[in-house]
Amino acid sequence: MSYDLIVIGTGPGGYVCAIRAAQLGLKVAVVEKRATFGGTCLNIGCIPSKALLHASHLFEEAAHNFAKLGIVVDTPKLDHAAFLAFKDKAVEGNTKGVDFLIKKNKITPYRGTATITAPGKVEVKAEDGSVQTVEATAIVIATGSDVAKLPGVEIDEARVVSSTGAIALDKVPGKLVVVGAGVIGLELGSVWRRLGAQVTVVEFLDRILPGMDLDVAKSFQRILEKQGIAFKLGSKVTGVDTKGKVSKVTVEPAAGGEAQAIEADVVLVAIGRVPYTEGLGLEALGVETDKRGRVVTDHYFRTNVPGIFAIGDAIAGPMLAHKAEDEGVALAELLAGQAGHVNYDVIPAVVYTSPEVASVGKTEEELKQAGIAYKVGKFPFLANGRAKANDETDGFVKVLADEATDRVLGVHIIGVEAGELIHEAAVLMEFGGSSEDLARTCHAHPTRSEAVKEAAMAVEKRAIHM
Ligand code: FAD
Ligand code: NAI
Repeated sequence: MSYDLIVIGTGPGGYVCAIRAAQLGLKVAVVEKRATFGGTCLNIGCIPSKALLHASHLFEEAAHNFAKLGIVVDTPKLDHAAFLAFKDKAVEGNTKGVDFLIKKNKITPYRGTATITAPGKVEVKAEDGSVQTVEATAIVIATGSDVAKLPGVEIDEARVVSSTGAIALDKVPGKLVVVGAGVIGLELGSVWRRLGAQVTVVEFLDRILPGMDLDVAKSFQRILEKQGIAFKLGSKVTGVDTKGKVSKVTVEPAAGGEAQAIEADVVLVAIGRVPYTEGLGLEALGVETDKRGRVVTDHYFRTNVPGIFAIGDAIAGPMLAHKAEDEGVALAELLAGQAGHVNYDVIPAVVYTSPEVASVGKTEEELKQAGIAYKVGKFPFLANGRAKANDETDGFVKVLADEATDRVLGVHIIGVEAGELIHEAAVLMEFGGSSEDLARTCHAHPTRSEAVKEAAMAVEKRAIHM
């Protein structure tokens, strides 16, 4: 069979690229080696983790916060099987949705592992060993990423787990040690803490959430500590001994020094993810990859081999589903002769804990490093009417604007619904808006969004409620 486009991998990058290309009239096929479409995000990433975060948040609300609202309930109990089934249903609903969209857009699916044997040729090996050759003018690598391994620590997905095991634990661990204070560690650490686990996070750096604004990260750490998560910063895990009933985790100061052993029922390794291109045949084809294993692409997602393109977690940039999706759309439009484009300066990032953390654009540290003069406007949720009414006052909004032009360069939020609030900042920045534009936009009262407006007003020291 011959196609205009064959996409390898059906994660948010791959399936979105395939759909957009089909909408534009291209004849499209996809190859997926997993039993269901949707990639890491829908099967073992974004969707299941958010279902568990949602359910565990409500559990904690019922256990500790309903009473102060005057709602009296019996102490909630966890039905562990139903808790996991809720997550599985969320995954099924979403992956079935992609099935439907693939059919609706008349995209031909191939099930199996793809190898690119030559430009324009893909071999698909099915689970039963049968092999089919598919031809296409353009081939898109959208094979995503895999868990980064910790040297000397074997992941068995039972006692020592990656995120994949951590979203399917068969009981709440008494003691959970999380290696890495990044997004996965803090989201999944929060899930199990809410259900009763004693959580200790070991982080190599002297801060949590590297890459996020430091002010926000410090405030977030204090909130998580108040919630009961313990942090060992500037520390590294050098081994996990699983011989006994309880595992012994060896922790050393990052700079070297005396080791300490801490106990864990479960250890979650969450030290990042690495691009996944195994078995694609890139070396034989001469497709260039960088030192971190990422496929090297130009501004148009072209690799160094004509006719082979790459998007998503397999290439440089933040490993985020929406970044992969936007690249998929842009590439499909470029292949159809349009002007596809991704603005990498405006890609929001959200940590879906309680409270949430959200960010778009430059952090203060990045602006300082780039020598850009900036103004800061900050507004606490403690002074926001809706936050006070709901008694959810943790956190703040911070707007960073260019000192000379007032153009908004970054917005950072910690607080309930920060992941929704960040998008008005993203739209503003996409249009090159200023803090003045945001400050003069009428915001409905009482909403948490008013804190975004007031932070923009605070840039010129004219916030009303502070
Ligand atoms: P993937 O989603 O990884 O999909 C790649 C697909 O390619 C897979 O299905 C794989 O089976 C298939 N494949 C690979 N090789 C082959 C081959 N040779 N032949 C056939 N098929 C192949 N991001 C967010 O933006 N928000 C979140 O809330 C979020 N939460 C996350 C939570 C967790 C626990 C994890 C692990 C990740 C999370 N992410 C989140 C990151 C997000 O999942 C990724 O950024 C996103 O899935 C990348 O999309 P992709 O299309 O590049 O690749
Ligand atoms: P991460 O890169 O966010 O964080 C990894 C952390 O581990 C860093 O703080 C790092 O300093 C630390 N670390 C590295 N080596 C270490 C060691 N040996 N000992 C102790 N600490 C060590 O990676 P994470 O959390 O695994 O997530 C992977 C990717 O998945 C992220 O890059 C993110 O893009 C994506 N993701 C996004 C989510 C979202 O958007 N809400 C949710 C979950 C994942």
